[in-house]
Amino acid sequence: MRISIVTGASSGLGREFAKQVAAAGGIDQLWVVARRAERLEALKAELEVSHAGLIVRPVALDLTSQPEIDKLAEMLAAENPQVDVLVNASGFGKYGTYRDLTTEEITQMIDLNCKSVVLLTYAVLPFMAAKSRVLNMGSASAFQPLPEFNMYASTKSFVVHFSRALNVELKSRGISVTCVCPGFVRTEFFDVARDTANPDTCQNFTPMYEPEDVVRKALADSLRGKDLSVLGLNTKLKRMAGKLLPAKMVMATWMKIK
Ligand SMILES: NC(=O)c1ccc[n+]([C@@H]2O[C@H](COP(=O)([O-])OP(=O)(O)OC[C@H]3O[C@@H](n4cnc5c(N)ncnc54)[C@H](OP(=O)(O)O)[C@@H]3O)[C@@H](O)[C@H]2O)c1
Repeated sequence: MRISIVTGASSGLGREFAKQVAAAGGIDQLWVVARRAERLEALKAELEVSHAGLIVRPVALDLTSQPEIDKLAEMLAAENPQVDVLVNASGFGKYGTYRDLTTEEITQMIDLNCKSVVLLTYAVLPFMAAKSRVLNMGSASAFQPLPEFNMYASTKSFVVHFSRALNVELKSRGISVTCVCPGFVRTEFFDVARDTANPDTCQNFTPMYEPEDVVRKALADSLRGKDLSVLGLNTKLKRMAGKLLPAKMVMATWMKIK
């Protein structure tokens, strides 16, 4: 049995990945992961109607919990599928300074954005073969340190480095890892990010990209074996600035435009 797995499939980019991975075909089952079971069930109903023969399997899990990640690993061991595509799209950010974020917000952000990406990827890798692909959601926020969005940007920096290095480690197995690093994308991300003690540390969200475009490019870049997927001139310029300019200068600009 050939399957693909998409986390964060109840909303935004993960949901769009699930739709485009289903549309690409070639798999028997699509496992969709997030906490909100009712949204996953709705996605299953939608995709099974539009893609005859595809079985969509909702897996309602909290990926900040190690025992819940273990449950997914147990499902894989029980079914022994070949996993063609793994998309790690579950993730969230919270605006605020070091004074504003609670210990729970900080630990959950690190647990979901970093720890779960590593543990889930490592749990899935034994079930992958040559030409299998991993896509991890990074962010343009990873390209430079971001005061007042520091914790989120730092977690995404981790994801970029983890993904690119793992891509090299997996070359001999023919498996690619692509880190997807968009700028602002129209999803529920901002509702979650602003639900914090200090939601106004960032207020400029232009330009805003569409999930369909980000995901289309990400899947195409992953097929080409690229380790980074960056959509749009504005985001490419951010990446270049992060690489070429002194961090102090980039952070000073960010503090003016954010
Ligand atoms: N939107 C942007 O501007 C933007 C830009 C760059 C990168 N990203 C990244 O893209 C990814 C997707 O974000 P999005 O924009 O699509 O935001 P979103 O619409 O808020 O989706 C976030 C997804 O993460 C899932 N999630 C949250 N907590 C979870 C948990 N504890 N366990 C399992 N799943 C959990 C949510 O599902 P449940 O709540 O149902 O669990 C939801 O499906 C994230 O990694 C984000 O950091 C977003």
